[in-house]
Formats: sequence, C-alpha cells, structure tokens
Amino acid sequence: KHSVGLVGWRGMVGSVLMQRMRDEGDFALIDPVFFSTSNAGGKSPTWAGETALQSAYDIDALKKLNTIVTAQGGDYTSEVYPKLRAAGWKGYWIDAASTLRMKDDAIIVLDPVNRSVIDAALTRGVKDFIGGNCTVSCMLMGLAGLFNQGLIQWMTSMTYQAASGGGAQHMRELLTQFGLINAEVHAALSDPASAILDIDRQVLSIQQSGRLPTEQFGVPLAGNLIPWIDKDLGNGMSREEWKGEAETNKILGRGEGFGSTAIPIDGLCVRVGAMRCHSQALTIKLTRDVPLDEVVDIVAKGTQWAKVIPNTKEDTLRELSPVAVTGTLDIPVGRMRKLSMGSDYLGAFTVGDQLLWGAAEPLRRMLRITLG
Ligand code: HSE
Repeated sequence: KHSVGLVGWRGMVGSVLMQRMRDEGDFALIDPVFFSTSNAGGKSPTWAGETALQSAYDIDALKKLNTIVTAQGGDYTSEVYPKLRAAGWKGYWIDAASTLRMKDDAIIVLDPVNRSVIDAALTRGVKDFIGGNCTVSCMLMGLAGLFNQGLIQWMTSMTYQAASGGGAQHMRELLTQFGLINAEVHAALSDPASAILDIDRQVLSIQQSGRLPTEQFGVPLAGNLIPWIDKDLGNGMSREEWKGEAETNKILGRGEGFGSTAIPIDGLCVRVGAMRCHSQALTIKLTRDVPLDEVVDIVAKGTQWAKVIPNTKEDTLRELSPVAVTGTLDIPVGRMRKLSMGSDYLGAFTVGDQLLWGAAEPLRRMLRITLG
C-alpha cells in the first residue's frame, strides 16, 4: 500500500476531505500517516486508530511517504514543499492551496474535466497535483460539456461567493453579524405595527456603527455584499477574477504554452452572505448558434454531476440555490436561455459546494488516480 501523509486534515477543507475519504473507502487502499503543524505527539482521530501525530515540519518523516495530501494552506506549502524537493523527495504532492497552481510543471486537478491532461502529466513524470480555485472548479464541473465541444468563444462570470471561501472564521463572523443585527431589531420586528423604515434605519445604524465584528471581511457582510475578493492586482482586477481565465485555461490544457489560444473568461467576483456554496451568473458567447435544447443536452452530459435545472421559477427556487446544493456533489446549471443580444449568446446560472468540488473532492480523486 502507498503511504500517504495527511496534513491539515483537521481544518475546514481537511475535515470535509477526511469525511469524503471515509465515505468512499479510500482509507482501505492506503497507509495513512497523520501529521500536525501544532500537535506532534498528539493522537490521530479515533476513526483513524489514534496513532501518534508526526510533525508536519519533519522533512525526514515526510520524505518516507509515497504521497502527501495537504489542506494546510499556502504558508505551509511555501515553507515545506521546497525543502522536501530539495531533499530529493520524488513522491506525489497533492495540495489544496494555490501556491503551486500556476507552476509550469504542476497540474491543476479536476479529473472529470481534465483526466487526459492529468494522465499525460503522469506519463511525463509530473508529481505536483494541485486543486483549483473553487469558483473555477465548480463552474467547469457544470459547463464541461460546452467546453469539451468547443462551444465557448468567451464567457463572463459574475460570482456570488460564500463566506466559507475566506475560511471558517469568516463563516463565524457572518453568523455573528446576522445575530447582532437581529438582536438590534428584535423587539421592533416582533411588533407587527412597527414601521419597516424604522427597522431598516436601525439595521443600517448597527451596520455602520463599528459594533459588528469585521476582522475577517473588513466590513459587515450580513445584509451587505463585498464586490472584491482576494488581493488587488493593481490593474483594476482582483486576484480571484484573474484566476477565472488563468486557471480555467490551464485546467483545460489551453492557451500559451499549450499551443492553442486561451478562452477569454472575465467578470466580477462578489462575496455574499451565503455559507458554503459559490454561485455564478454566466454570459456565454457560443462559437455557433446551437439550439437551446442541444445546449441543454450537452451541459447535462458534460459530467456525471452536472444537473440541468429546467428554466422555470418553480424548479429554480427549489433546486438552484446554495441552500439546495450544500453538502451534495451536484452541480446544478439552470436559468439557461438565449439572451437578447443574439441567438449565439447563452445565459446560465450555476451553484456548487465550494468545500466539495471546490476543494476536497478533486484532491481525493487525484489520490485515487495515483493509486492506479
Ligand atoms: N478564493 C476563494 C474564495 C476560495 O475566497 O471564495 C477558494 O478557492
């Protein structure tokens, strides 16, 4: 059996990853070794036999492994990965962090979409396999059919990204904000005779008061939105927006360096008060005027997880929302219709659990691939 080192298994992405690996019986196929950045000598979880945790900074211990799977984050990758490779380690590095993603000899993994890119890389001896940006991975899992058929000339993605994309603390902060706002207006809200504009004034007053915790988001997210995610690249673009085109094309094996042209993908990334599903409104310029029923069919067959939602109000409300999708591997794609700009313009809306296809699932599937 392959020895597989697990790092960052206790965090939010790591916990979802551990649960998925247990659900799918992955642990029966590997010899897991649990590492910790802060609790070496402590115990692995009960379900994992309470073995002693090894130090995640112990290069000699890490060097013995066939594979390392890390959801520890970018700082850990930056610190440990170069040392391990410098020490001559030749194992598989499977990582959720973005640090190594755009490296020439790293592959962004999303095997239902880019299995051929992954297989070719394995044949060449590539050892670094990195999970993609959550928004990109969820979008591709929904639209793989259209990309594979060469039907996308360009696309805009306007996102509605959940608090979990920032991390566990961001989710807590959002909920705390919601609670404090509710507490502020609770009395007035309970009184059917109270005036809604008074309640609204009270809400705005606490939102602007500085009394809500905003360490994570910088401003209140509850009852608000934040049209900027990740770093400011200084050219008017956020780093999250930059990833859309850069990572999508890399995953698909397109663009400069692959001997083909990149598909332009751009848009605005917006944080909203959802918990863990990222949603996106898409405008797609088709390469040709394909009838809508064919488009729908192509999307439905793109991946096993893409799920077309009929474009009716009833189906949309029931199935095309973060609340409907959270905790499932489904990637619903709905609101599909030709836009008034012309019959080669398609509108669509998609939702995905950013901790599943957006983070944990591509990693565990890549681990499976390396096991043969
Ligand atoms: N950057 C993403 C977000 C998270 O902030 O929503 C994961 O890729």
